[in-house]
Amino acid sequence: MGESKKSATLSIDGKDYDLPVFSPTAGPDVIDIRKLYAQAGVFTYDPGFTSTASCDSTITFIDGDKGELLHRGYPIGQLAEKSHYLEVCYLLLYGDLPSAAQLEDFEARVTHHTMIHEQMMYLFRGFRRDAHPMAIMVGVVGALSAFYHDSTDINDPWQREVASVRMIAKMPTIAAMAYKYTIGQPFVYPRNDLDYASNFLRMCFAVPAEDYEVNPILSRAMDRIFTLHADHEQNASTSTVRLASSSGANPFACIAAGVACLWGPAHGGANQACLEMLKEIGTPDQIPEYIKRAKDKDDPFRLMGFGHRVYKNFDPRATVMKQSADEVLDLLGTDDNPTLQVAKELEKQALEDDYFIEKKLFPNVDFYSGIILEAMGFPTSMFTPIFAVSRTVGWISQWKEMIADPQLKIGRPRQLYHGATLRDYVDIEDR
Ligand code: SDX
Repeated sequence: MGESKKSATLSIDGKDYDLPVFSPTAGPDVIDIRKLYAQAGVFTYDPGFTSTASCDSTITFIDGDKGELLHRGYPIGQLAEKSHYLEVCYLLLYGDLPSAAQLEDFEARVTHHTMIHEQMMYLFRGFRRDAHPMAIMVGVVGALSAFYHDSTDINDPWQREVASVRMIAKMPTIAAMAYKYTIGQPFVYPRNDLDYASNFLRMCFAVPAEDYEVNPILSRAMDRIFTLHADHEQNASTSTVRLASSSGANPFACIAAGVACLWGPAHGGANQACLEMLKEIGTPDQIPEYIKRAKDKDDPFRLMGFGHRVYKNFDPRATVMKQSADEVLDLLGTDDNPTLQVAKELEKQALEDDYFIEKKLFPNVDFYSGIILEAMGFPTSMFTPIFAVSRTVGWISQWKEMIADPQLKIGRPRQLYHGATLRDYVDIEDR
């Protein structure tokens, strides 16, 4: 955290309290209120954490006004263009880009942990075939702690390392198995001669009845989608993983909590909701009606894939995703995709509308991703599981950072209480 060179003075009921101010390497200063309640007997109030820094981190930085996203200082646009997902995983986990030997070793470790315990197959069979794949993932990811006890002691750095690699390696396998189960096809085992993205595509789309050749265009697009979703500082699901981990819960249970939070349509579920919205709009002539609804305070409808708590400019991931959508659909010969046309026209009209301009609402990472995923052959129900596969490295990296912090405390917020004050019990005959 470094030392505080400045302070802020808070005056309450005529008494002044000096609070330390810490300056980061990037972003706004923070006022340290850790001793505020002890000194002044007051809480701060910030239910959506709109002005609250929950931790001291070195992993990812977002400048929402500039539309900038850095992973360990490297801009997401450069990583999406020049790197690949497992190298970004290494960067997020260990803090720097790997040497060729370090990358080869890391990729080999991940590759050799992609299978899951054979007994776990039976967990899938407990679900209805029409279960949402995210429901299956929440259950199966949590159950990993029942099969990998030898990497659940969070106080053992080696076990933390093994659990980290196991999570990153096994999530694609679990997501692909959830998909196969819901479409009634047999599970496809991972292969060690395929890269991460190609392995995932093959586990999702191969069938025993014929050979499956991975399309390099699709595996590159898949890898880029994984890279773009890898981490995003203290978003809702990452904060969930951090809070769950602060009690000392094992990493598999904490990642399952992150999967559950990501599922919400305001968060990772937005990619599914956005594509469904674009299809509901159907044709460009319907767009004005939907923009009108999105602006109507009395209508709960929101433009899915638009807006962001932090970005008040373009989400840099959306920019890369839009380029990738054009490339992939063009290479697949489906660039006349009507959904992509609606998306582009919707973006144009929204960004010209005063409501969206004043509220600084721009397309976010979820606006174009579904179009690419659908073109790759995924059903909308697989969009959020794919987000979960990618974000696992972000959850794990943030988890590792928190667990290694010697100042780790259990997360336990307080409240602004407006309930009943003390009163005596009333017997039922007197009520
Ligand atoms: C992700 O946090 C992260 O980093 C998340 C994420 C990650 O990588 O982890 O980036 C991934 O979750 C991206 C966001 C995906 N969600 C959606 O696309 C769902 C649609 N967007 C919104 O629900 C909303 O924009 C949020 C949830 C993303 C952000 O909500 P905030 O920050 O709480 O903002 P808000 O709801 O207070 O909105 C501010 C104003 C409101 O109007 P007023 O009350 O001020 O009049 O903008 C309006 C909102 O009504 N608004 C929208 C809108 N988003 C915000 N109006 C219409 N359509 C929208 N999409």
